[in-house]
Amino acid sequence: MSLTFEPLHPLFVARVTGVDLPTVEDPAVLHALRVGMDRYGVLVFHDQHFTDASQMAFARRFDGELHAKTGAAALGASRLGTEAVADISNVDEAGELLAAGDRRRMYALGNRLWHTDASFQDPPGRYSMLSARVVPAVSADTEFADMRAAYDALDPDIKAQIEGLHAHHSIAHSRRTLGFDFSEEESRKLEGAVHPLVRVNPRTGRRSLYVASHASRIVEMPVPEGRLLLLDLMEHATRDRYVHRHAWRPGDLVIWDNLATMHRGRPFDDTKHRRELRRVTTLDLPLA
Ligand code: OGA
Ligand code: MN
Repeated sequence: MSLTFEPLHPLFVARVTGVDLPTVEDPAVLHALRVGMDRYGVLVFHDQHFTDASQMAFARRFDGELHAKTGAAALGASRLGTEAVADISNVDEAGELLAAGDRRRMYALGNRLWHTDASFQDPPGRYSMLSARVVPAVSADTEFADMRAAYDALDPDIKAQIEGLHAHHSIAHSRRTLGFDFSEEESRKLEGAVHPLVRVNPRTGRRSLYVASHASRIVEMPVPEGRLLLLDLMEHATRDRYVHRHAWRPGDLVIWDNLATMHRGRPFDDTKHRRELRRVTTLDLPLA
């Protein structure tokens, strides 16, 4: 089997063939996949049959330590028994579809906002690996946006203005914009984190905009002014030309770089159609 990368968009995203991720251990193949991540930001693989255990093991082999402090954990324990596997699905412990008013559903609807995973933590999430287990017959897609291309296209004076600025990212903030209420105890667990607004990939030197619906304010600016800047940057960065839409098939694994892209789930009738995916995210720590 030889590894091939087939671009799916003019700016980013490639489909990869010639590798079985649950079993791959070859350091040369893992290296080629990391180089592919730096180049494309999002890699799409079909027919990857993961269990939760093999998905966690692959994520560790590929990129090191796993993110396990999810926002959802502040609401209650996961039915999957580990916080390192995020339950990206619309069913409860008994496998029944979540009712329209279920608090877990309200919380999960936040994934329909443009975001990066675990930017409300420090260190933040680096790679997310989302495995499709059950996919509905209706379209229930995920969109990705290239934050490197969005950065490159900014006016030079905007680039100069935002260099060195920091944003506060909070999952409580993004959920509250949807009218979701957290208790005081939940809020305490979700204080958020501060990150640079512009990130530089240490291997390629490429810059990207690090914005998300979690970004609540710019540390160095008065709150309204910082929010307006964030809104402008979000609008710019999610223009059609930077966006790729992925239609899921069961067995797909998509890996994205949270420091170079944003993503969002697209609406579908989730109280009628079962959709079960599992996500494992690594932390942005230097690789051993
Ligand atoms: C995620 C996510 C969107 C979707 O898994 O982190 O945001 O379409 N998913 O399920
Ligand atoms: Mn996400």
